[in-house]
Amino acid sequence: RIVFVNGEFLPFEEARLPIMDRGFLFADGIYEVSAVVGRRLIDNEGHLTRLARSLGEIRIANPYSDEEWVGLQTELITRNELDEGIVYTQVTRGAAERDFAFPKEATPTVVMFTQPKSILASPQAESGIAVVTVPDLRWKRRDIKSVALLAQVLAKQAAAEAGVGEAWMVEDGAVTEGSSSTAFIITRDGTIVTRPLSNAILPGITRRSVMRLAQEAQLRVEERLFTLEEAHDAAEAFITSASSFVMPVVAIDGTPIGDGKPGRLTRRLRELYLDMAR
Ligand code: PDD
Repeated sequence: RIVFVNGEFLPFEEARLPIMDRGFLFADGIYEVSAVVGRRLIDNEGHLTRLARSLGEIRIANPYSDEEWVGLQTELITRNELDEGIVYTQVTRGAAERDFAFPKEATPTVVMFTQPKSILASPQAESGIAVVTVPDLRWKRRDIKSVALLAQVLAKQAAAEAGVGEAWMVEDGAVTEGSSSTAFIITRDGTIVTRPLSNAILPGITRRSVMRLAQEAQLRVEERLFTLEEAHDAAEAFITSASSFVMPVVAIDGTPIGDGKPGRLTRRLRELYLDMAR
């Protein structure tokens, strides 16, 4: 297994980082996850645009141009012979003596690795997943793809302990998003509903593509808040993310959604996204 660390492609076992890295000490960094299908990066332009934006918001200079990023990611995919899975990319402010304010001189730490994962043919996508809900405990800049993920770790652990696939986070009665995914419901009149972009959620790249595909297919899409009650009463529900594409949700907090099977429109949206990725 080959990983990328600060300009070098190295065997995983040889990769080293200083303990003073601010990613480790302060979660002072950001990341991206892009899917790979048939050795090709999916929706990667969006991920690189968001990477640049996240860096800008926390004032780390982007170490590479988009072309350079793609070159490095592609080389990593080739070196690992990754047919299907994800590329993980992380940039932190770098290593410096521990002090909260930015160090005067620090070079950003860049880490990339791949993980094989079967995304196209997923048994979970056939059956759908159940979700539980948890309070959204995160900070107020969730639009930044920060490596500070403690609230999401706790949310996903709650899901794991409940034996389900994802946790939806709830704030002021409305669903914000999944611990690592965007949340959607489809109302009984066939309207696809997801929360509008703001600092309260991550602007999902898969979300954006799925909304575009839905609009092209003449489906109704509405960006608005939806409550937990509305979600329980929905005809269909699903999540989107780079690592799951479109994943049907068949139960929320033990309440079956629709007939408790992946919904018709959800399956159609998954197919539309797969057609784009294949
Ligand atoms: N998570 N919301 C949150 C909080 C996320 O962490 C993610 C992605 C998404 C979906 O965004 P996108 O469609 O751009 O992947 C929404 C990645 C996959 C992860 O942390 O592994």
